[in-house]
Amino acid sequence: MKQHMTSGSIIACLLVHFLFISCSFAQSDTSINPYHYSISKIAKGNHGAVSSAHPLASMVGLAILKQGGNAFDAAIAVQLALAVVYPNAGNLGGGGFLVAHTKSSKSVAIDFREKAPGSATRDMYLDSLGNPLVGLSEDGPLSSGVPGTVAGLFSTLRYALLPFQDLIQPSIDLAEKGFAITESEAETLNSHQDDFRKYSTETTVFIKKEPWKAHDTLIQKELAQTLIRIREHGMKDFYQGETARLIVEEMKRGNGKISMQDLANYNAIERTPMTFKYKGHQIIGMPMPSSGSLLMLQIMKIVEDRDIGKMGFQSPEAVQLMVEAERRAFADRAEYMGDADFVKVPVKKLSDAGYIKNRMKDYVTGKATPSNIVSPGDINPESEETTHLSIADRYGNAVSVTTTLNGLYGSRTVVGGAGFLLNNQMDDFSIKPGVPNIYGAIGKEANAIAPGKRMLSSMSPTIVLKNNKPYLVVGTPGGTTIPTTVFQTIINIIEFRQSAFDAVNNPKFHHQWLPDQVLVEEEIPSKLINSLHAMGYKTTTTPEIGRTELIKINWKGKKSASFEAIADKRGDDHAAAF
Ligand code: GLY
Repeated sequence: MKQHMTSGSIIACLLVHFLFISCSFAQSDTSINPYHYSISKIAKGNHGAVSSAHPLASMVGLAILKQGGNAFDAAIAVQLALAVVYPNAGNLGGGGFLVAHTKSSKSVAIDFREKAPGSATRDMYLDSLGNPLVGLSEDGPLSSGVPGTVAGLFSTLRYALLPFQDLIQPSIDLAEKGFAITESEAETLNSHQDDFRKYSTETTVFIKKEPWKAHDTLIQKELAQTLIRIREHGMKDFYQGETARLIVEEMKRGNGKISMQDLANYNAIERTPMTFKYKGHQIIGMPMPSSGSLLMLQIMKIVEDRDIGKMGFQSPEAVQLMVEAERRAFADRAEYMGDADFVKVPVKKLSDAGYIKNRMKDYVTGKATPSNIVSPGDINPESEETTHLSIADRYGNAVSVTTTLNGLYGSRTVVGGAGFLLNNQMDDFSIKPGVPNIYGAIGKEANAIAPGKRMLSSMSPTIVLKNNKPYLVVGTPGGTTIPTTVFQTIINIIEFRQSAFDAVNNPKFHHQWLPDQVLVEEEIPSKLINSLHAMGYKTTTTPEIGRTELIKINWKGKKSASFEAIADKRGDDHAAAF
């Protein structure tokens, strides 16, 4: 069944075709050949759909759905597969968030964000004069928080149908027998060779004498052994067993802080999701320690009653409104947001309709509001390499997961003998008030380091309900650009009536209060940029913002639905459906 192609989709397909193997807009073939596979950017079906950052991971997810697994089974299997085939962001050594809506109408939020080690201190990345020690929070074992991903997978299992052994086996096979890497994986592996040597204390399979090329086979025997131990002994292996021991050995050799006790103490937490309404839709997202949903709530409430749909897609008027909403929300992020288990985050006040309305009182149409006059609101006392997967099944379950090592390949520290990379998530804390992290985001006391605390995130796995049924399953990597990209994707569909494909692939922009600039993707038309300059905005161009994975579901009665999966044109992302 061929799908209708827009001109944009044809360009995306051709691009992928020349870069890699082949590209298809037909219904996905789910037979998995790890040495020869193609990339689909759109897939449609009536039974279920998966969109993720890598074709092999999406194909694993689809195979699980076909075997009778539900969206939770597939989410577990896809995350494990990404840890093998997409090592720059897929992970065992990182963390993330899962947001879901079950067939029995329960909204779910699982927090498996990393935690600061027990011996972490507030000023651990500052010298004796209080100056930031450049790189310490970003590189090597000292930048790693206690990983949460494996605990997150086992927390998800309570909603799944299939045995864990079936969900992990495809990843064991991919690690043991190997798979052909993509052109972009080859490029990033090559550009990180020095880092792998510098920040790993033992040699790793990622280091190679000759440069990596597209189609080279990556075999990861140590990672396969780690996955087998997890299959045999469950999360106990990772947090108390042989894998825990290997992590701690790596820490000792590389002067990191994670201890056996930190690992044994780690827990994933099921939290109450953050929900709000937008023009008859219900938006479900992650609460603290992710700032993502609260930022989206503030931004979307600002645009909701201003009829942005009528202003027109990327009209100067609409873009200005969105940018000014983003600016104000990010000013509040810097001041008030952090791990609500440790600091009081005034979520109720920051979500209050009157408060949000008041934030726009100095808004002037056609004129930029400089960030130096936008303070955080008065509330009377809260690399970008990450990866997202969206999955929906025919039973009515929808699962949205964003997971991350933080930077590309995280800390670039591979755990000796265990074959997986550790995160550099400690950089998401505010290492000193006002000092920007790798995303340029600043923070204050609310996001200061403390033992056992989770660092503030921007990850925004999101589900949009329409008529109380899952309608959109969406998310993206991109650090601080995550909430603004998810917001624009949703608005593109609800307000600007775009196709799912265009909503994902149309160019995006971003403002985060500081630095005071609008980040614009290269494809944003120069006419719009000129209009922004005329209003007083500074713009900075960037090649890409986000890599959004979206599933749009059209319910036909209670039990029957059609699924449209979109994988972002910006990467090797792959959509699969049946
Ligand atoms: N490490 C990116 C984020 O959590 O926002």
